[in-house]
Amino acid sequence: MRILGIETTCDETAAAVVRLKPEGGGEILSNEVRSQIEEHAPYGGVVPEIAARAHVEIIDGLVARALRDANVELSDLDGVAAAAGPGLIGGVMVGLITGKALALAAGKPFIAVNHLEAHALTARLTDDLTFPYLLLLVSGGHTQLVAVEGVGEYRRIGTTVDDAVGEAFDKVAKLLGLPYPGGPQVEIEAAKGDAGRFDLPRPMLARQKPDFSLSGLKTAVRLQAERAAPMSPADVSDLCASFQGAVVDVIVDRTRMGLRVFRTELGHPSALVVAGGVASNQAIRRALMRFCGESGLRLVLPPPALCTDNGAMIAWTGIERLRLGLVDGLDFPARPRWPLDQNAERVHNGKA
Ligand code: KG4
Ligand code: ZN
Repeated sequence: MRILGIETTCDETAAAVVRLKPEGGGEILSNEVRSQIEEHAPYGGVVPEIAARAHVEIIDGLVARALRDANVELSDLDGVAAAAGPGLIGGVMVGLITGKALALAAGKPFIAVNHLEAHALTARLTDDLTFPYLLLLVSGGHTQLVAVEGVGEYRRIGTTVDDAVGEAFDKVAKLLGLPYPGGPQVEIEAAKGDAGRFDLPRPMLARQKPDFSLSGLKTAVRLQAERAAPMSPADVSDLCASFQGAVVDVIVDRTRMGLRVFRTELGHPSALVVAGGVASNQAIRRALMRFCGESGLRLVLPPPALCTDNGAMIAWTGIERLRLGLVDGLDFPARPRWPLDQNAERVHNGKA
């Protein structure tokens, strides 16, 4: 089985071809990603209108390259998958319409993929992994702990009540004058700094419900920055290190609580899976390795290129769904909001 996957929900245009191996698991035949960082950088964040236009300009060439790299024709595919949300509506429509058009032209099944489900299932593309597992999804738009019980079966255990972790990294970077996108810059600065220099809060620590809150921490960073102004490069590094240290503590504590809830309600997870752009942060990866070692839990960390947005995760989710007979009509709508767990209570930030 070979599927083309298309991703355009945020600021990456991506197309990939993934094959289902006869013994199970996936093989990435091609994986084209074009980041729009340069287009958005002058504005310090993603501008939806610019994102949508940039997707339109390159999507057809990118799909052609993904097919060529994989050495397949459209007619060789078994299906076409495209992310139908959640995300920025203009961008989602570009990828969704492209996917539908290709499926129609080639007479192939079409699979509308939930972008969050794709992050959740990527670990089964890269690693031999059985359900159920605990997923920590930490990206620019989402921060959730999810019990993944099967394809299409997700139970949200915890979520952020305000900012996503990646969003907090990006906002801290912006207020410290670091270039966009902020997460990787904060990590680089933090590596040079002293994490013990600034005293910052660890919101939600030890709370029974495994939810997250990041906005108070971000405000505390702002207040410390104002107090230390004008900041030297060493001050910036120290504040980044202190911020990242607080985030690491919060993530480990919330994951520990999420694991406790999982074990009480569902038994033992096969692994802790970490996904989303923030999962490429080395300090967070190291802390979770330590935590899983202590907890006797397998840790699955997809390679950084598959943690950030990509087409392979969309293609793989297409495979997971198509082999269960789950296909979609060409009338499938673009869904700017599309929670993984339809039964989860809506939090006021509207992101979960
Ligand atoms: O999953 P992703 O590529 O896009 C979505 O949000 O869906 O995640 C992007 C987010 C951004 O907020 C970015 O700053 C953050 O992930 N990020 C990082 C790192 N690399 C990316 N945050 C902290 N450390 C990093 N190394
Ligand atoms: Zn994402």
